[in-house]
Amino acid sequence: MTDQQRTVRVVGPDYLLAGRYRLAYKLGGGGMGAVWLAQDTLMGRKVAVKQVTSTAHLSDAAAREVRNRAMREGRIAARLTSLHAIAMHDVAIEDGEPWLVMEYMPSRSLAQALNSTEFLQPYEVAQVGAQVADALTEAHEAGIVHRDIKPGNILIADRGRTLGIVKISDFGISRAKGDVEESDSSVITGTPAYFAPEVARGQDPTEASDVFSLGATLYTATEGRPPFDIDQDSIALLHRVARGQIIRPTRSGDLTPALLHMLEPDHTRRPTMAQARDEIIRAAISSRGHIANLRGVPITSSDGTVPAWAHRSTPVAETRRPSREFGNTIAGLPAVRSGGLSDDQTPKPYAPPAFDPPKKKNPLEVVLDRIDDVVGDKVDISPEVILAVLVAVGVLLIVLIIAIL
Ligand SMILES: Nc1ncnc2c1ncn2[C@@H]1O[C@H](COP(=O)(O)OP(=O)(O)O)[C@@H](O)[C@H]1O
Ligand SMILES: [Mg+2]
Repeated sequence: MTDQQRTVRVVGPDYLLAGRYRLAYKLGGGGMGAVWLAQDTLMGRKVAVKQVTSTAHLSDAAAREVRNRAMREGRIAARLTSLHAIAMHDVAIEDGEPWLVMEYMPSRSLAQALNSTEFLQPYEVAQVGAQVADALTEAHEAGIVHRDIKPGNILIADRGRTLGIVKISDFGISRAKGDVEESDSSVITGTPAYFAPEVARGQDPTEASDVFSLGATLYTATEGRPPFDIDQDSIALLHRVARGQIIRPTRSGDLTPALLHMLEPDHTRRPTMAQARDEIIRAAISSRGHIANLRGVPITSSDGTVPAWAHRSTPVAETRRPSREFGNTIAGLPAVRSGGLSDDQTPKPYAPPAFDPPKKKNPLEVVLDRIDDVVGDKVDISPEVILAVLVAVGVLLIVLIIAIL
């Protein structure tokens, strides 16, 4: 398809995709496109469909790469059967553009959960980690490296039959063995706050770097900040990651030894994903625990119930307010070629800046959150707009009453 033939599609609620999937509203979206809730009119069930970022403004080569990436995500995810990976049903092609059709899980991401509470309990995080590590063990056995494990790509069912079940999603930049790799190793794609040191230094992501990124994700959930802290400047952050010196965890409790093993700067000393999963379970869940007892089982607090932060009734700040995802997926970052462990075996001491705790919500934000909670899942209108309409109607009424009197 040429630039002239490629047109901008007008996609919105009620749009019928590929004559079969009727869009309802946006569930989320990141760097790689938007995810919609849709009704599969043929099978009579809800699905989540991922719309790839519009290619209308791209060169033919760039548009082809975007479409290839979506096809790769669809094909890779379709090879997984784990209960703890979002299932891929179909790739719908419309106007030459692929749309991914997935299992719909009413859920919140771990990043969203971290907006409602500053830290999570090690016991709860360990269960999240065990379920995700179980799915990634299957992926690694199938020769698939995820490459973008982070809180925003871990979904936790927040209502319905599956409440409390954890699934990994977004294989958008993943690779399977045998795929044609981009040959340029001087640029990297992913989310710097969760990179393994060797990836920041330009080495290809591997199973071991997935283990590190999962360790960094779980660390963020218990500690309230990523292991190399945060930095608006992704290049400065990349240099810290390349040095491999994490901030020592202080809130991770029983999970600490397993996390430190996963976060080993030297990738040859890290556990495999299966070993990491089993270490997490033994150290932080039960000394005699086994993954077979945790598969498909909702995560629980120490009192045996699904934690409050995983329930839909616990409000979370949406992406339009400050997010605690700590970084988006970025394509084409320059790898660190100096200052890494390979050049300097004694990591430089690093004094992290003070962590900025999330600001207390002002009354307006509380009202907006409330509106969002009541209507946010039914209509795709921001609570700010709804509030503005309510205020306008109020003012109009007052003017009318004054006029009548
Ligand atoms: N299968 C799904 N069911 C429900 N919500 C989903 C599903 N997949 C994605 N989402 C929502 O969409 C967001 C972005 O999805 P993701 O696959 O991570 O896309 P991106 O490539 O844009 O990061 C997720 O954080 C989640 O809120
Ligand atoms: Mg994502």
